[in-house]
Amino acid sequence: MRSTLEKVLRRSYPIALVLLLLVVLWACLPGPKTVKTNPAVKAEQERVAYDMRVESHARELFEQGREVFRYDTFGSEDFWGGQLRLHEAILGEKQGGVGPGITPKQALELGLKVDIGKLPKILVSAIRETAVSLENPETTIALLRADSVVGVKGIFKDDKLVSIGLECAFCHSTVDDSFAKGIGSRLDGWPNRDLNVGAIAAAAPTLKPYADLLGVSESQVRKVFLSWGPGKYDAELNQDGKAFRPDGKSAATVIPAAFGLAGVNLHTYTGWGSVTHWNAYVAITQMHGKGTFFDPRLNDRSQFPVAAKAGYGNIRNNPDRVTPKLAALHYYQLSLPPAEPPADSFDKAAAGRGKLLFEGKAECATCHVPPLFVEPGWPMHTAAELGIDDFQASRSPDKHYRTTPLRGLFVRAKGGFYHDGRFATLDDVVNHYDRHRKLRLTPEEKKDLVEYLKSL
Ligand code: HEC
Ligand code: HEC
Repeated sequence: MRSTLEKVLRRSYPIALVLLLLVVLWACLPGPKTVKTNPAVKAEQERVAYDMRVESHARELFEQGREVFRYDTFGSEDFWGGQLRLHEAILGEKQGGVGPGITPKQALELGLKVDIGKLPKILVSAIRETAVSLENPETTIALLRADSVVGVKGIFKDDKLVSIGLECAFCHSTVDDSFAKGIGSRLDGWPNRDLNVGAIAAAAPTLKPYADLLGVSESQVRKVFLSWGPGKYDAELNQDGKAFRPDGKSAATVIPAAFGLAGVNLHTYTGWGSVTHWNAYVAITQMHGKGTFFDPRLNDRSQFPVAAKAGYGNIRNNPDRVTPKLAALHYYQLSLPPAEPPADSFDKAAAGRGKLLFEGKAECATCHVPPLFVEPGWPMHTAAELGIDDFQASRSPDKHYRTTPLRGLFVRAKGGFYHDGRFATLDDVVNHYDRHRKLRLTPEEKKDLVEYLKSL
């Protein structure tokens, strides 16, 4: 043992000596070291290193944000599963839940979407060959187990569905239907105008938490949820308790696009705040995730009686599962480009003429300033300026409507335009502006303007 060690030492001696000589030689040479200490070169190296740090930070934020937008429940399973027991309705009696269960066919009819990229190949071919029944609640559980139901996270314990949580993608992503209607590749930021949020929530075995909060019966809550219909949700109901407009119609709004928002100052139809304000608002007060939310405007007892009583203006949870994700979530949403309309979906020549009208005679660009299609600055307007009622505006702290950014309008055609979808078509929108703003557009001009809107 000792002799081998000595042998090794003896053998490495000459190598060490050569190395030492090389170091001494390098130290005596004047050239390369002076270059290193040259301040200009050093500054350049530091600049490159800093730029690289910024770029890798941007990449990390983007990737983390995408993960949060698609897959984070913020702990909301304690509400949707824990309190409403929604997973029991999905399971059905036969699998240990309640009622008949929800089949994939019913889930698709409720507007839920399936991400083909998440499905195991074997399940894809089984569905294709209809070997797997879309009429069986067990298949819904298999889809949840594969984490393929867009925006819905099944929580499993020993292979049994024990809870369910919601993600941002639930309302703000859809799929391209490339496999079948409702099954395809994800399109983040595209509003899911097929999703019947109210009917899904109403399927929960109990709605007691809402009933207690609003001071009404569970059946009244159910009735309100069922009044929304596809593509709609009411993000202010549990602040002001207003379920219906004075004309008796639902108070819900259509789900907006979450793309094309970079450069836009205020968010939601009524400009509640920035994207990140609203993200915290939704994650905590709507999805019932666990985190911190502070907005003292909700303490106003006359405007937000429900929120003021429940203390929604200052919510604290420990651990906070929202705040650490807000930066990345914000960054990801600002990265989402507006949807591009298919080239053959509008008349190019007419759209060209429509552009001139939009920026000229029709006065649209005074508010919808290209290329953002919203005013840089404070893009808020009164109901009177728009020629509509102020019901929804009056439910927000600023009591105004925000100019809607118009890029990717075509994906919002289903469910209608304006905050509550009151205008079924773009022709209706243009006719409204023509009347209200006395534009005196000819029928031809109106058509051109609509073609331009379709091209955005
Ligand atoms: C249950 C459906 C639903 C879920 C889940 C949901 N949203 Fe929304 N989102 C809406 C509706 C409806 C509005 C419009 C609210 C309004 O104007 O009062 C909205 C508005 C927005 C806006 C404003 C868009 C604009 O035009 O300015 C952003 C941004 C947004 N949501 C992001 C998110 C993020 C991020 C999450 C997850 C933390 C999320 N949403 C979860 C339904 C939903
Ligand atoms: C005074 C500012 C203003 C002017 C001028 C204006 N808009 Fe708007 N626009 C708004 C606001 C604010 C909204 C949001 C209304 C709502 O949601 O209730 C809106 C919404 C829209 C929408 C619906 C978007 C959606 O996703 O629901 C379209 C389409 C539209 N405007 C097109 C036009 C056209 C075309 C013109 C010109 C004829 C025009 N606007 C002129 C402020 C304006």
